[in-house]
Amino acid sequence: MLIGVDYYPEHWERSDWEPHAKLMADGGFKIVRVAEFAWSKMESREGRYDFGWLDDAIRVLRTHNIQVILSTPTATPPPWLVTQHPETLAMNQDGVRMEAGGRRHYCFSSPKYRELSRRIVTAMAQHYADHPAVVGWQIDNEIGGPHCWCDTCAKAFREWLKTRHGTLENLNKVWGTIFWGQEYFDWNEIPLPRHKHASHSPSIRLDHQRFHSDQVVSYHDMQVEILRKLCPGKWITHNFMGFYDQVDYFTLAKRLDFVSLDYYPGSKPLSFPEHSEYRNGKQLSESHDYTRSLKHKPWWIMEQRSGLTGWLDVFQSGDKPGQLRLWTYQTVAHGADAVIYFRWRTSRYGIEQYWHGVLDHHGQPGRRYQELTRVAREFAALGDRLEGSAYTAPVGILINPEARWAMSIQKGNPHFNYLGHSGQYHQAFAYHHVGVEYYQPSDDLSMCKILVAPALFLCDDRLAAKLTDYVQSGGTLVVTFRSGVKDVHNVVVNDRLPGALKHLTGCIVEEYDSLVYQETCRVETQAPLPKRSVKASIWCDQLRLAGAKAIARYREGLFKDSPAAAINRYGMGRVVYVGFQGDRVFYATLVKWLLSQHKLLPSIAPSEHVEITERVKGKDRFLFVLNHAGSQQKITLPAKARYRDLLTGRKTPRVVTLAPYDVKILTTIQTT
Ligand code: GLA
Ligand code: ZN
Repeated sequence: MLIGVDYYPEHWERSDWEPHAKLMADGGFKIVRVAEFAWSKMESREGRYDFGWLDDAIRVLRTHNIQVILSTPTATPPPWLVTQHPETLAMNQDGVRMEAGGRRHYCFSSPKYRELSRRIVTAMAQHYADHPAVVGWQIDNEIGGPHCWCDTCAKAFREWLKTRHGTLENLNKVWGTIFWGQEYFDWNEIPLPRHKHASHSPSIRLDHQRFHSDQVVSYHDMQVEILRKLCPGKWITHNFMGFYDQVDYFTLAKRLDFVSLDYYPGSKPLSFPEHSEYRNGKQLSESHDYTRSLKHKPWWIMEQRSGLTGWLDVFQSGDKPGQLRLWTYQTVAHGADAVIYFRWRTSRYGIEQYWHGVLDHHGQPGRRYQELTRVAREFAALGDRLEGSAYTAPVGILINPEARWAMSIQKGNPHFNYLGHSGQYHQAFAYHHVGVEYYQPSDDLSMCKILVAPALFLCDDRLAAKLTDYVQSGGTLVVTFRSGVKDVHNVVVNDRLPGALKHLTGCIVEEYDSLVYQETCRVETQAPLPKRSVKASIWCDQLRLAGAKAIARYREGLFKDSPAAAINRYGMGRVVYVGFQGDRVFYATLVKWLLSQHKLLPSIAPSEHVEITERVKGKDRFLFVLNHAGSQQKITLPAKARYRDLLTGRKTPRVVTLAPYDVKILTTIQTT
């Protein structure tokens, strides 16, 4: 286990490099990521490569035993490139090319951009293939956007459609282009679905999203292939952005050795405003669980907040003493083996002058450096005990990237949010200290005792058959409203809802209503669940039972007294259908009951603020206890086991007291 920093030597004087490296080494930072945006410095004119400066910087780092991750610089094409080849710039919906000057402004389909990317990556790979300080590679930076609407992309989209649909006849049929008389008789008639107000069919929009994702993946994989060939023995990763969805992350992760996450806890939610109420504290671990689940194995943090963040303005309030350490252990608690902080020293230049690093602009070590240095000492003392240990997650959430895209194209309620909704389940499990793994449809589900499939809007027969097997062999499946609604072409099924899943749920949707004015509707849970009064919002399915047993009923509104949720026995397992979006109390109640049915309910009392997770390695079980509150918290450990605190070496009393933002790693003492 190690900590490191993202470092941009090219932003500083050469004379700074030595004191920087010394301060890193003294503080216990053992690895740095470099070269990420340095294309203009490595290739200042087309074909003129210069790695001398980078060799020198790496040499200085190496003198201090610091390892190096090289990033390919393709997120930031240099100005000469876009000036000489303006067609490499992505185009917006109105036909205007993106402005250069920032980053991520290239077109994924541009043959020229691919060629120039191939060349710089090849040159870097050849130069550093055997470099002893270089341990691995990062591809590009936070890849995925932008969507480009240029003619090259339009052509590529049509080719992609030919491969997917074969003939125009077939495409017309499965998309249902007869609607509004939009049948195509020539491939060139197919437009890019540029504007929402052009009322394109959800079918073309979903295929376009798939196409975009495939373009991103193929561009990314092109770089992976070069590095695999030229630099065998070095690992390759990419820095993912949590739940970002413009590319299918499961597919993007496939060719990598492991995945990494960029983690900025406490940042004002820019991309996910729906998270605003709970983007602090233990709930943030959703993105950790999702990232780990992309490959179901230990992962890294490639960038983690190390101070105030912001561009033109500061995005969030300052970290409290202890929080940088807490967030680091939160990451480890969810299965990560290394944490790299963004960035080493706060930049004096560019848009990120407010995005603070471990050191401030002036470069003198301060509170944050000291706090992370403490983490480095603790990591060193822990040695390799935790490294590679597996995260314990007996329950799962099924994320189907395609269903998520389809839902975002046509939400049915403007306030519906796929992530917010799946997050309600994650939070309920986390509240009870139960670890969650995310699954994609092609994953093996057999490790998972309870599987929640939130808004499985698209569900084909294959997935339905897989879920049937899962339930038949004893699993509990939770299906929610807006499931089984569409086929893979984003066309509504010719069936009662939940379509391909209705044999499993033992109930069908009689009618539905969308609560568009943000009104709520009272629902009452009933046996075998404890009786609770809860609130439905966003959506209400009126259920008709066909073998299932009601576990909740509407107590007001259009569907008063009708079943709102039901449970069905199927094979050796069971299926719960939840026809509405509930509140916190509902999910806590349902999840607690489900956990108790599977004997998965931990004996440690649930908590909003204290996060508890487990990693396992051989016979060793490590319990992470993290206090996200700014006040002291206490937890009571199970009576049977006895624990030792790995960070202090001392035996732990049964009632553990945690100082604000403090962390404990406990391991059971074998009593023989
Ligand atoms: C992202 C990028 C970094 C940096 C930070 C802060 O996570 O990967 O390069 O720009 O945001 O803006
Ligand atoms: Zn394009």
